[in-house]
Amino acid sequence: PFPSYDQLRSFAPVLHEPRSDLWLLLDYEGVKRALNDAEAFSSVVSPPTARTSQWLVFSDPPRHTKLRALIMRAFTPKAVASLEPRIRELSRELLDQTIERGEMDLVTDFSVPLPLRVIAELLGAPVADQPRFRRWSDVIMALSHTVSGGDAAARVQEAFRVVTDEMRAYLEELIEQRRAVPRDDLLTRLVEAEVDGERLTEEEILGFFQLLLVAGHETTTNLISNAILCFIEHPDQLARLRSTPDLLPSAIEEVLRYRSPVQAMWRMTRRDISVHDQVIPAGKMVMPIIGSANRDPQRFRDADRFDITRDPNPHIAFGHGIHFCIGAPLARLEARISLSTFLERVRGFTLASDAPWEPREAIHVHGPARLPIRFEPGR
Ligand code: HEM
Repeated sequence: PFPSYDQLRSFAPVLHEPRSDLWLLLDYEGVKRALNDAEAFSSVVSPPTARTSQWLVFSDPPRHTKLRALIMRAFTPKAVASLEPRIRELSRELLDQTIERGEMDLVTDFSVPLPLRVIAELLGAPVADQPRFRRWSDVIMALSHTVSGGDAAARVQEAFRVVTDEMRAYLEELIEQRRAVPRDDLLTRLVEAEVDGERLTEEEILGFFQLLLVAGHETTTNLISNAILCFIEHPDQLARLRSTPDLLPSAIEEVLRYRSPVQAMWRMTRRDISVHDQVIPAGKMVMPIIGSANRDPQRFRDADRFDITRDPNPHIAFGHGIHFCIGAPLARLEARISLSTFLERVRGFTLASDAPWEPREAIHVHGPARLPIRFEPGR
Protein backbone atom coordinates (compact mmCIF):
# COMPACT_ATOMS: atom_id res chain seq x y z
CA PRO A 1 0.00 0.00 0.00
CA PHE A 2 2.90 2.37 0.73
CA PRO A 3 3.71 3.79 -2.74
CA SER A 4 0.04 4.55 -3.29
CA TYR A 5 -0.19 6.29 0.11
CA ASP A 6 2.68 8.53 -0.99
CA GLN A 7 0.92 9.32 -4.24
CA LEU A 8 -2.41 10.01 -2.58
CA ARG A 9 -0.90 12.04 0.25
CA SER A 10 1.05 14.28 -2.08
CA PHE A 11 -2.10 14.74 -4.16
CA ALA A 12 -4.16 15.75 -1.10
CA PRO A 13 -3.94 14.87 2.62
CA VAL A 14 -7.76 14.69 2.79
CA LEU A 15 -9.50 12.69 0.09
CA HIS A 16 -13.11 11.87 -0.55
CA GLU A 17 -13.80 8.45 -2.03
CA PRO A 18 -17.16 8.95 -3.76
CA ARG A 19 -18.15 5.31 -4.33
CA SER A 20 -18.18 4.42 -0.64
CA ASP A 21 -18.60 8.05 0.52
CA LEU A 22 -15.58 7.57 2.72
CA TRP A 23 -13.12 10.30 3.75
CA LEU A 24 -9.47 9.28 3.88
CA LEU A 25 -6.98 11.13 6.07
CA LEU A 26 -3.40 10.53 4.98
CA ASP A 27 -1.04 12.97 6.67
CA TYR A 28 0.43 12.75 10.15
CA GLU A 29 -1.24 15.84 11.66
CA GLY A 30 -4.69 15.04 10.22
CA VAL A 31 -4.61 11.40 11.36
CA LYS A 32 -3.40 12.31 14.82
CA ARG A 33 -6.16 14.85 15.25
CA ALA A 34 -8.92 12.49 14.12
CA LEU A 35 -7.69 9.79 16.53
CA ASN A 36 -7.78 12.06 19.56
CA ASP A 37 -10.46 14.70 18.92
CA ALA A 38 -13.49 12.77 20.19
CA GLU A 39 -15.61 15.91 20.25
CA ALA A 40 -15.36 16.20 16.44
CA PHE A 41 -14.65 12.58 15.46
CA SER A 42 -16.77 9.97 17.19
CA SER A 43 -15.58 6.39 17.67
CA VAL A 44 -19.17 5.18 17.68
CA VAL A 45 -18.95 4.19 14.04
CA SER A 46 -21.99 2.43 12.67
CA PRO A 47 -20.69 -1.05 13.28
CA PRO A 48 -21.57 -3.92 10.93
CA THR A 49 -23.68 -5.34 13.71
CA ALA A 50 -24.91 -3.56 16.79
CA ARG A 51 -23.03 -5.98 19.04
CA THR A 52 -19.62 -4.42 18.51
CA SER A 53 -21.04 -1.22 19.98
CA GLN A 54 -20.24 -2.75 23.35
CA TRP A 55 -16.57 -2.53 22.47
CA LEU A 56 -14.45 0.03 24.29
CA VAL A 57 -12.69 1.01 21.08
CA PHE A 58 -16.04 1.95 19.50
CA SER A 59 -17.25 4.06 22.42
CA ASP A 60 -17.02 7.77 23.29
CA PRO A 61 -16.65 9.62 26.60
CA PRO A 62 -18.05 9.66 29.23
CA ARG A 63 -18.74 5.88 29.11
CA HIS A 64 -15.42 5.24 27.36
CA THR A 65 -13.48 6.98 30.14
CA LYS A 66 -15.00 4.74 32.83
CA LEU A 67 -14.65 1.47 30.96
CA ARG A 68 -11.09 2.29 30.02
CA ALA A 69 -10.12 3.01 33.62
CA LEU A 70 -11.48 -0.38 34.56
CA ILE A 71 -9.48 -2.36 32.03
CA MET A 72 -6.31 -0.30 32.55
CA ARG A 73 -6.03 -1.83 36.00
CA ALA A 74 -5.32 -5.18 34.38
CA PHE A 75 -2.55 -3.75 32.19
CA THR A 76 -0.39 -1.98 34.75
CA PRO A 77 3.36 -2.07 34.04
CA LYS A 78 3.75 -4.47 36.97
CA ALA A 79 1.06 -6.86 35.76
CA VAL A 80 2.55 -6.86 32.27
CA ALA A 81 6.15 -7.31 33.44
CA SER A 82 5.12 -10.34 35.47
CA LEU A 83 4.26 -12.12 32.22
CA GLU A 84 7.84 -12.01 30.96
CA PRO A 85 9.01 -15.46 32.13
CA ARG A 86 5.92 -17.11 30.72
CA ILE A 87 6.32 -15.38 27.34
CA ARG A 88 9.96 -16.54 27.20
CA GLU A 89 8.93 -20.08 28.03
CA LEU A 90 6.23 -20.09 25.35
CA SER A 91 8.64 -18.66 22.75
CA ARG A 92 11.16 -21.41 23.51
CA GLU A 93 8.55 -24.14 23.39
CA LEU A 94 7.33 -23.02 19.98
CA LEU A 95 10.86 -22.87 18.58
CA ASP A 96 11.71 -26.29 20.07
CA GLN A 97 9.02 -27.77 17.85
CA THR A 98 10.53 -26.49 14.60
CA ILE A 99 14.19 -25.71 15.13
CA GLU A 100 15.52 -29.08 14.00
CA ARG A 101 13.57 -28.97 10.76
CA GLY A 102 15.49 -25.99 9.46
CA GLU A 103 12.32 -24.50 8.06
CA MET A 104 8.99 -23.22 9.26
CA ASP A 105 6.12 -20.99 8.37
CA LEU A 106 6.91 -18.19 10.74
CA VAL A 107 3.27 -17.08 10.87
CA THR A 108 1.62 -20.43 11.62
CA ASP A 109 4.41 -21.85 13.76
CA PHE A 110 5.42 -18.82 15.76
CA SER A 111 3.78 -15.44 15.42
CA VAL A 112 0.17 -16.67 15.56
CA PRO A 113 0.32 -19.14 18.48
CA LEU A 114 2.48 -17.02 20.80
CA PRO A 115 0.22 -13.97 21.30
CA LEU A 116 -2.87 -16.17 21.17
CA ARG A 117 -1.62 -18.23 24.11
CA VAL A 118 -0.57 -15.16 26.05
CA ILE A 119 -3.96 -13.45 25.69
CA ALA A 120 -5.90 -16.64 26.38
CA GLU A 121 -3.91 -17.17 29.59
CA LEU A 122 -4.34 -13.54 30.56
CA LEU A 123 -8.09 -13.76 30.09
CA GLY A 124 -8.07 -16.95 32.12
CA ALA A 125 -9.23 -19.48 29.54
CA PRO A 126 -8.15 -23.12 29.74
CA VAL A 127 -5.37 -24.10 27.31
CA ALA A 128 -7.52 -26.76 25.70
CA ASP A 129 -9.87 -24.04 24.47
CA GLN A 130 -7.28 -22.26 22.35
CA PRO A 131 -8.26 -23.72 18.96
CA ARG A 132 -11.73 -22.30 19.56
CA PHE A 133 -10.21 -18.92 20.33
CA ARG A 134 -8.36 -18.96 17.05
CA ARG A 135 -11.53 -19.74 15.13
CA TRP A 136 -13.52 -17.05 16.90
CA SER A 137 -10.85 -14.50 16.36
CA ASP A 138 -10.69 -15.31 12.63
CA VAL A 139 -14.42 -14.75 12.28
CA ILE A 140 -14.34 -11.48 14.23
CA MET A 141 -11.44 -10.29 12.08
CA ALA A 142 -13.30 -11.19 8.90
CA LEU A 143 -16.20 -9.11 10.12
CA SER A 144 -14.08 -6.05 10.65
CA HIS A 145 -12.78 -6.35 7.08
CA THR A 146 -16.18 -6.35 5.52
CA VAL A 147 -17.28 -2.81 4.91
CA SER A 148 -19.76 -3.01 2.11
CA GLY A 149 -23.01 -4.97 1.69
CA GLY A 150 -23.48 -7.95 -0.60
CA ASP A 151 -23.43 -11.71 -0.20
CA ALA A 152 -19.96 -11.98 1.26
CA ALA A 153 -20.82 -9.43 3.95
CA ALA A 154 -24.04 -11.26 4.76
CA ARG A 155 -22.18 -14.58 5.12
CA VAL A 156 -19.58 -13.03 7.39
CA GLN A 157 -22.28 -11.46 9.53
CA GLU A 158 -24.05 -14.75 9.87
CA ALA A 159 -20.78 -16.42 10.90
CA PHE A 160 -20.27 -13.65 13.43
CA ARG A 161 -23.72 -14.20 14.87
CA VAL A 162 -23.05 -17.91 15.30
CA VAL A 163 -19.69 -17.26 16.90
CA THR A 164 -21.15 -14.62 19.22
CA ASP A 165 -23.77 -17.10 20.42
CA GLU A 166 -21.07 -19.71 20.96
CA MET A 167 -18.91 -17.24 22.84
CA ARG A 168 -21.82 -16.11 24.95
CA ALA A 169 -22.61 -19.67 26.00
CA TYR A 170 -18.93 -20.35 26.69
CA LEU A 171 -18.54 -17.16 28.71
CA GLU A 172 -21.70 -17.68 30.72
CA GLU A 173 -20.20 -20.89 31.99
CA LEU A 174 -16.82 -19.31 32.77
CA ILE A 175 -18.49 -16.31 34.45
CA GLU A 176 -20.53 -18.70 36.60
CA GLN A 177 -17.33 -20.49 37.63
CA ARG A 178 -15.57 -17.24 38.50
CA ARG A 179 -18.53 -16.04 40.58
CA ALA A 180 -18.33 -19.27 42.55
CA VAL A 181 -14.53 -19.44 42.77
CA PRO A 182 -12.72 -16.16 41.98
CA ARG A 183 -9.26 -16.45 40.48
CA ASP A 184 -6.38 -14.14 39.75
CA ASP A 185 -7.31 -13.49 36.13
CA LEU A 186 -8.83 -10.82 33.94
CA LEU A 187 -12.17 -12.53 33.72
CA THR A 188 -12.59 -12.50 37.49
CA ARG A 189 -11.72 -8.80 37.47
CA LEU A 190 -14.36 -8.13 34.84
CA VAL A 191 -16.95 -10.14 36.74
CA GLU A 192 -16.24 -8.27 39.97
CA ALA A 193 -15.80 -4.81 38.44
CA GLU A 194 -18.22 -1.98 39.05
CA VAL A 195 -18.82 1.14 36.97
CA ASP A 196 -20.85 3.81 38.82
CA GLY A 197 -21.75 1.25 41.46
CA GLU A 198 -23.07 -1.23 38.92
CA ARG A 199 -21.67 -4.53 37.75
CA LEU A 200 -20.93 -4.98 34.05
CA THR A 201 -23.65 -6.77 32.12
CA GLU A 202 -22.80 -10.11 30.51
CA GLU A 203 -23.08 -8.34 27.16
CA GLU A 204 -20.39 -5.87 28.24
CA ILE A 205 -18.12 -8.62 29.52
CA LEU A 206 -18.61 -10.39 26.20
CA GLY A 207 -17.67 -7.17 24.38
CA PHE A 208 -14.42 -6.88 26.37
CA PHE A 209 -13.63 -10.50 25.81
CA GLN A 210 -14.14 -10.21 22.04
CA LEU A 211 -12.14 -7.01 21.75
CA LEU A 212 -9.22 -8.26 23.83
CA LEU A 213 -9.17 -11.53 21.96
CA VAL A 214 -8.85 -9.83 18.59
CA ALA A 215 -6.84 -6.77 19.63
CA GLY A 216 -4.63 -8.93 21.80
CA HIS A 217 -3.29 -11.23 19.18
CA GLU A 218 -3.99 -10.35 15.56
CA THR A 219 -2.00 -7.14 15.87
CA THR A 220 0.89 -8.61 17.85
CA THR A 221 1.07 -11.52 15.41
CA ASN A 222 1.58 -9.02 12.62
CA LEU A 223 4.17 -7.07 14.58
CA ILE A 224 6.30 -10.22 15.05
CA SER A 225 5.89 -11.33 11.42
CA ASN A 226 6.54 -7.84 10.09
CA ALA A 227 9.72 -7.58 12.14
CA ILE A 228 11.16 -10.77 10.64
CA LEU A 229 10.05 -9.62 7.19
CA CYS A 230 11.81 -6.26 7.67
CA PHE A 231 14.99 -8.03 8.82
CA ILE A 232 14.94 -10.27 5.73
CA GLU A 233 14.36 -7.29 3.46
CA HIS A 234 17.07 -5.21 5.15
CA PRO A 235 20.03 -7.50 5.91
CA ASP A 236 22.26 -4.54 6.79
CA GLN A 237 19.87 -3.58 9.60
CA LEU A 238 19.74 -7.17 10.84
CA ALA A 239 23.55 -7.31 10.91
CA ARG A 240 23.56 -4.11 12.92
CA LEU A 241 21.05 -5.54 15.38
CA ARG A 242 23.04 -8.76 15.72
CA SER A 243 26.15 -6.77 16.61
CA THR A 244 24.24 -4.47 18.99
CA PRO A 245 21.35 -6.45 20.52
CA ASP A 246 20.47 -3.48 22.75
CA LEU A 247 18.97 -1.90 19.64
CA LEU A 248 16.07 -4.36 19.72
CA PRO A 249 13.52 -2.04 21.41
CA SER A 250 14.36 0.73 18.96
CA ALA A 251 14.17 -1.76 16.04
CA ILE A 252 10.68 -2.80 17.21
CA GLU A 253 9.56 0.86 17.23
CA GLU A 254 10.83 1.18 13.67
CA VAL A 255 8.92 -1.94 12.56
CA LEU A 256 5.80 -0.42 14.14
CA ARG A 257 6.34 2.72 12.08
CA TYR A 258 7.53 1.17 8.83
CA ARG A 259 5.03 -1.68 8.62
CA SER A 260 2.30 -0.61 11.05
CA PRO A 261 0.24 -3.68 12.07
CA VAL A 262 -2.92 -1.55 12.28
CA GLN A 263 -3.00 0.50 9.10
CA ALA A 264 -6.21 2.41 9.69
CA MET A 265 -9.09 3.03 12.08
CA TRP A 266 -12.60 4.37 11.71
CA ARG A 267 -14.26 7.55 12.90
CA MET A 268 -17.56 9.31 12.23
CA THR A 269 -17.83 13.11 12.02
CA ARG A 270 -20.17 14.61 14.62
CA ARG A 271 -20.47 17.94 12.81
CA ASP A 272 -18.97 19.68 9.77
CA ILE A 273 -15.22 19.60 10.33
CA SER A 274 -12.52 21.45 8.48
CA VAL A 275 -9.23 19.60 7.98
CA HIS A 276 -6.55 21.27 5.85
CA ASP A 277 -9.18 23.64 4.42
CA GLN A 278 -11.37 20.76 3.30
CA VAL A 279 -14.78 20.52 4.94
CA ILE A 280 -15.91 17.01 5.87
CA PRO A 281 -19.68 17.17 6.40
CA ALA A 282 -21.36 15.87 9.57
CA GLY A 283 -22.23 12.17 9.81
CA LYS A 284 -19.53 10.90 7.42
CA MET A 285 -17.28 7.88 7.84
CA VAL A 286 -13.62 8.85 8.10
CA MET A 287 -10.62 6.58 7.81
CA PRO A 288 -7.48 7.95 9.50
CA ILE A 289 -4.72 5.98 7.77
CA ILE A 290 -2.09 5.35 10.42
CA GLY A 291 0.16 3.48 7.98
CA SER A 292 0.32 6.56 5.78
CA ALA A 293 0.79 9.00 8.68
CA ASN A 294 3.78 6.94 9.80
CA ARG A 295 5.41 7.44 6.39
CA ASP A 296 4.64 11.15 6.13
CA PRO A 297 7.86 12.87 4.94
CA GLN A 298 6.72 16.08 6.64
CA ARG A 299 7.17 14.29 9.97
CA PHE A 300 9.82 11.62 9.33
CA ARG A 301 13.10 12.20 7.58
CA ASP A 302 13.72 9.53 4.90
CA ALA A 303 10.28 8.22 5.74
CA ASP A 304 10.58 5.24 3.40
CA ARG A 305 13.89 4.09 4.88
CA PHE A 306 13.88 1.30 7.48
CA ASP A 307 16.34 2.48 10.10
CA ILE A 308 16.52 0.62 13.42
CA THR A 309 18.34 3.52 15.06
CA ARG A 310 15.73 6.14 14.14
CA ASP A 311 15.54 8.71 16.93
CA PRO A 312 13.17 10.39 17.59
CA ASN A 313 10.48 8.06 16.29
CA PRO A 314 7.10 9.60 17.14
CA HIS A 315 5.07 6.97 15.23
CA ILE A 316 1.39 6.57 16.00
CA ALA A 317 1.11 2.82 15.38
CA PHE A 318 -0.68 2.41 18.74
CA GLY A 319 -3.00 5.33 18.03
CA HIS A 320 -2.97 8.64 19.84
CA GLY A 321 -4.78 10.25 22.76
CA ILE A 322 -7.85 8.95 24.51
CA HIS A 323 -8.03 5.61 22.67
CA PHE A 324 -4.26 4.99 22.79
CA CYS A 325 -3.70 1.24 22.78
CA ILE A 326 -4.08 -0.28 26.22
CA GLY A 327 -2.08 -3.32 25.16
CA ALA A 328 0.97 -1.39 23.94
CA PRO A 329 3.23 -2.41 26.87
CA LEU A 330 2.17 -6.04 26.45
CA ALA A 331 2.67 -5.98 22.66
CA ARG A 332 6.13 -4.42 23.08
CA LEU A 333 7.06 -7.01 25.70
CA GLU A 334 5.85 -9.92 23.57
CA ALA A 335 7.74 -8.59 20.56
CA ARG A 336 10.94 -8.05 22.54
CA ILE A 337 10.96 -11.49 24.18
CA SER A 338 9.84 -13.47 21.14
CA LEU A 339 12.21 -11.72 18.74
CA SER A 340 15.21 -11.94 21.03
CA THR A 341 14.56 -15.66 21.58
CA PHE A 342 14.13 -16.11 17.83
CA LEU A 343 17.32 -14.22 16.96
CA GLU A 344 19.36 -16.12 19.53
CA ARG A 345 18.31 -19.49 18.21
CA VAL A 346 17.54 -19.03 14.53
CA ARG A 347 20.57 -18.26 12.41
CA GLY A 348 20.85 -17.44 8.73
CA PHE A 349 17.15 -17.25 8.01
CA THR A 350 15.91 -16.43 4.52
CA LEU A 351 12.60 -16.64 2.69
CA ALA A 352 12.03 -20.24 1.60
CA SER A 353 10.36 -19.24 -1.61
CA ASP A 354 10.98 -16.70 -4.36
CA ALA A 355 7.28 -16.00 -4.67
CA PRO A 356 6.26 -12.63 -3.24
CA TRP A 357 4.78 -12.91 0.25
CA GLU A 358 1.01 -12.77 0.46
CA PRO A 359 -0.60 -10.21 2.76
CA ARG A 360 -3.33 -11.16 5.19
CA GLU A 361 -6.66 -10.40 3.64
CA ALA A 362 -7.58 -7.34 5.55
CA ILE A 363 -8.34 -3.73 5.04
CA HIS A 364 -6.87 -2.28 8.13
CA VAL A 365 -4.31 -4.75 9.40
CA HIS A 366 -1.00 -5.30 7.70
CA GLY A 367 1.18 -8.39 7.76
CA PRO A 368 1.95 -11.58 5.84
CA ALA A 369 -0.57 -14.43 5.73
CA ARG A 370 2.34 -16.88 5.55
CA LEU A 371 6.09 -16.42 5.77
CA PRO A 372 7.91 -19.66 4.91
CA ILE A 373 11.52 -19.35 6.00
CA ARG A 374 14.61 -21.57 5.89
CA PHE A 375 17.44 -21.40 8.39
CA GLU A 376 20.35 -23.33 9.85
CA PRO A 377 18.93 -26.13 11.97
CA GLY A 378 19.95 -25.61 15.57
CA ARG A 379 19.14 -26.55 19.11
C1 HEM B 1 -6.55 0.41 20.82
C2 HEM B 1 -2.92 -0.81 17.83
C3 HEM B 1 -1.86 -4.67 20.63
C4 HEM B 1 -5.84 -3.77 23.24
C5 HEM B 1 -5.64 0.43 19.79
C6 HEM B 1 -5.52 1.48 18.80
C7 HEM B 1 -4.52 1.11 17.95
C8 HEM B 1 -3.97 -0.14 18.41
C9 HEM B 1 -4.04 1.88 16.71
C10 HEM B 1 -6.34 2.79 18.74
C11 HEM B 1 -7.67 2.61 18.09
C12 HEM B 1 -8.42 3.93 17.89
O1 HEM B 1 -7.92 5.02 18.14
O2 HEM B 1 -9.57 3.84 17.43
C13 HEM B 1 -2.32 -1.94 18.34
C14 HEM B 1 -1.11 -2.55 17.80
C15 HEM B 1 -0.80 -3.64 18.60
C16 HEM B 1 -1.82 -3.72 19.64
C17 HEM B 1 -0.34 -2.03 16.59
C18 HEM B 1 0.33 -4.63 18.52
C19 HEM B 1 1.43 -4.45 17.86
C20 HEM B 1 -2.82 -4.76 21.60
C21 HEM B 1 -2.88 -5.75 22.65
C22 HEM B 1 -4.01 -5.50 23.37
C23 HEM B 1 -4.66 -4.35 22.78
C24 HEM B 1 -1.81 -6.82 22.89
C25 HEM B 1 -4.60 -6.20 24.58
C26 HEM B 1 -4.20 -7.24 25.13
C27 HEM B 1 -6.37 -2.58 22.80
C28 HEM B 1 -7.58 -1.98 23.35
C29 HEM B 1 -7.79 -0.79 22.65
C30 HEM B 1 -6.70 -0.66 21.69
C31 HEM B 1 -8.44 -2.56 24.48
C32 HEM B 1 -8.94 0.21 22.84
C33 HEM B 1 -8.52 1.36 23.70
C34 HEM B 1 -9.58 2.43 23.80
O3 HEM B 1 -10.51 2.49 22.96
O4 HEM B 1 -9.48 3.24 24.73
N1 HEM B 1 -4.66 -0.54 19.55
N2 HEM B 1 -2.71 -2.67 19.43
N3 HEM B 1 -3.92 -3.92 21.71
N4 HEM B 1 -5.86 -1.76 21.81
FE1 HEM B 1 -4.25 -2.17 20.69
